[in-house]
Amino acid sequence: MIDFFVTILIISSIGAGLALVLVLCEKYVVNYGPCKVTVNDEKELDVEGGNPLLTVLRDEKIFIPSACGGRGTCGVCKCTVKTGAGPVLPTETPFLTKQELADNVRLTCQVKVRNDLSIEIPEELFNVREYETTCTKIEELTYDMRRFRFEIKGGEMIKFVAGQFVQLVCPPYKGSSEEVFRAYSVASDPADDGCIELIIRRVPNGICTTWCFDHLKEGDDVRLNGPYGDFRMSESEAPMVFVAGGSGMAPFVSILHHMRNTNSTREAKYFFGGNSIKDLCLAEQMAEFESAVPNFTFIPVVANPDAGNGWSGEAGLVTEAVQRQYPDMSGHEGYLCGSPGMIDAAAKVFTGLGMPEDKIYYDKFA
Ligand SMILES: Cc1cc2nc3c(=O)[nH]c(=O)nc-3n(C[C@H](O)[C@H](O)[C@H](O)COP(=O)(O)OP(=O)(O)OC[C@H]3O[C@@H](n4cnc5c(N)ncnc54)[C@H](O)[C@@H]3O)c2cc1C
Ligand code: FES
Repeated sequence: MIDFFVTILIISSIGAGLALVLVLCEKYVVNYGPCKVTVNDEKELDVEGGNPLLTVLRDEKIFIPSACGGRGTCGVCKCTVKTGAGPVLPTETPFLTKQELADNVRLTCQVKVRNDLSIEIPEELFNVREYETTCTKIEELTYDMRRFRFEIKGGEMIKFVAGQFVQLVCPPYKGSSEEVFRAYSVASDPADDGCIELIIRRVPNGICTTWCFDHLKEGDDVRLNGPYGDFRMSESEAPMVFVAGGSGMAPFVSILHHMRNTNSTREAKYFFGGNSIKDLCLAEQMAEFESAVPNFTFIPVVANPDAGNGWSGEAGLVTEAVQRQYPDMSGHEGYLCGSPGMIDAAAKVFTGLGMPEDKIYYDKFA
């Protein structure tokens, strides 16, 4: 019996050793040499093989949206690879529909450039750019949320639609050896196109948020690229229900600026969910929007308003507060931002109250 286990152990160790050698060879020894990436049958890029397509394109200033920074966990970085990509990897399949697989859609962070490739990307991505900025203001919003203002250098402008996101470039710092990219929804006024504001929540031990909270200072240079994403107000006149807690608030601040700028009279109710009173923020700015945007209402909802602290607003889960206000949501549109769990729970409540699935718009912060 012992012999059997020893044999299994030896075979497993040899397998693991070989896998490690292959990974190291792939990283340090194999040289794929110069490769050609043809974009939309027009543009030809001469690149060095060996890196993920996402990174290769980014080095050529072609920015494919990515929400997880290339870790293969968001499924956002899709593009059509007509030839040269090799077989689809198991890391890609959970994110690709049958139709996408048939159409040669791939995750650019998972496709390594090993030979010549021919790819197709939407024309609008050619408008995505990298911007050099200076961080000019850092504001505490709560114990774990801050608002950062980045002024674009050289008098340049960034045109974005309220609801879109940018990618912040987090440089290497003590404790993080690589440059990483993370997605953040723009929280500023689209009319204020010389700057970008972001509302960022600290994730314990998170690479980018640790840099934002513990290293980034006012006056520092910061790179970001964008804008990305199709989360935005629809063009209908249907009444809107926004649900977001924490940093999920960011795109709604931008959307409310847009509603004020365009004198929108569309009905909008924003349910902001916090765990406790210390999670609430931007009450003053929300009150200003309530005065300036005629049919906007802000409804903070506190899950655990500890007894005796004078909280007289909505209490319990944010979804319960929505249910109390709306017996029927069939004529409404839902807008959700934040963690996948919160979005799935709220979408279930919306559809349960009669809202069609295609009237629910969301950005999952994952
Ligand atoms: C479209 C989009 C828009 C976004 N907008 C915002 C925004 O406006 N404000 C904002 O603060 N964030 C936003 N995010 C999330 C953001 O991109 C990062 O994922 C987040 O800041 C964590 O990055 P990090 O490098 O600090 O953590 P990482 O180093 O990436 O993660 C460290 C660990 O924490 C876990 N983790 C990652 N994110 C979270 C989280 N949010 N909560 C709990 N655990 C987590 C990871 O699984 C990992 O185990 C958005 C994400 C997307 C996709
Ligand atoms: S960048 Fe997230 S899956 Fe590719």
